[in-house]
Amino acid sequence: MDQASHINELEMELLLDDFLEIYGYDFRGYSKASFRRRLQRLFIMDKMVSFPEFRFRLQRDTDYFNRAVAEISVNVTEMFRDPFFFKTLREQVIPVLATYPLIRIWHAGCSSGEEVYSMAIVLKEAGLLQKSLLYGTDINPNVLEKAARGIFPMTAMQQYSRNYLLSGGREDFSSYYTANYNHAKFDESLAQRMVFSTHNLVSDFSFNSFQLISCRNVLIYFDKDLQSKVLSVFDKSLERFGFLALGAKESLRFSGIETMYEALDGKEKVWRKFK
Ligand SMILES: C[S@@+](CC[C@H](N)C(=O)[O-])C[C@H]1O[C@@H](n2cnc3c(N)ncnc32)[C@H](O)[C@@H]1O
Repeated sequence: MDQASHINELEMELLLDDFLEIYGYDFRGYSKASFRRRLQRLFIMDKMVSFPEFRFRLQRDTDYFNRAVAEISVNVTEMFRDPFFFKTLREQVIPVLATYPLIRIWHAGCSSGEEVYSMAIVLKEAGLLQKSLLYGTDINPNVLEKAARGIFPMTAMQQYSRNYLLSGGREDFSSYYTANYNHAKFDESLAQRMVFSTHNLVSDFSFNSFQLISCRNVLIYFDKDLQSKVLSVFDKSLERFGFLALGAKESLRFSGIETMYEALDGKEKVWRKFK
């Protein structure tokens, strides 16, 4: 990488201040290395000539800023990701949720919704979908549009079907979608119980009270302080005896709320609030 395309530490601080002052987006608690890498990528992709040109565009052009936000947010996801997590849900969480008259679940940082559709399938198979509401939120509006459409690439279905079976699924996975050329359109009946909306975990507050919050593979991009702040938002949004699910590399340890939670059996990152 040549010098002109290199964004140095000071320049990065300038961009972080601009984003907050102009657009109200606070990325100061994001892991610096990945934030910088992603902006650098944008700089090179868009053939920016100098840092002042890049900064000027980001300051003045809201569409371009939104493009940068989309670039900063890592949207990798899949259906029944970490299948044994879903197995734990089926075996240890769903039977408890079944006792509630209305089940409210929040998927924070849901990306294009594959996790939400997976959860809807699990709920449907347990006969609980009709009394459930699944809220999917993300900072990036582009991925939420995809989530609302419920259309995913056909090439991924083989892998998703394998994940589904490993998660304890017993049906024919292809019965949940209609194949159309390169795409699989998931059953409308699954989406009927879903609500997708933008929500920024850094600056927005809790908006409901939930029995299960799943925020997997999102905190990993935040520094320790921001992780603790977000976990305390989840704590305020979770009912007593509710469940909190994190990604494989994420933890409640040292967050300040861990004393009010106990881990479920097994290796999966699911905790139950007992206070
Ligand atoms: C790697 S994806 C995880 C998707 C899904 N939870 C999973 O485990 O497969 C991370 C998601 O977090 C979202 N995200 C990043 N910062 C966020 C924030 N401040 N508020 C809400 N969502 C955020 C990104 O846009 C991205 O869609």
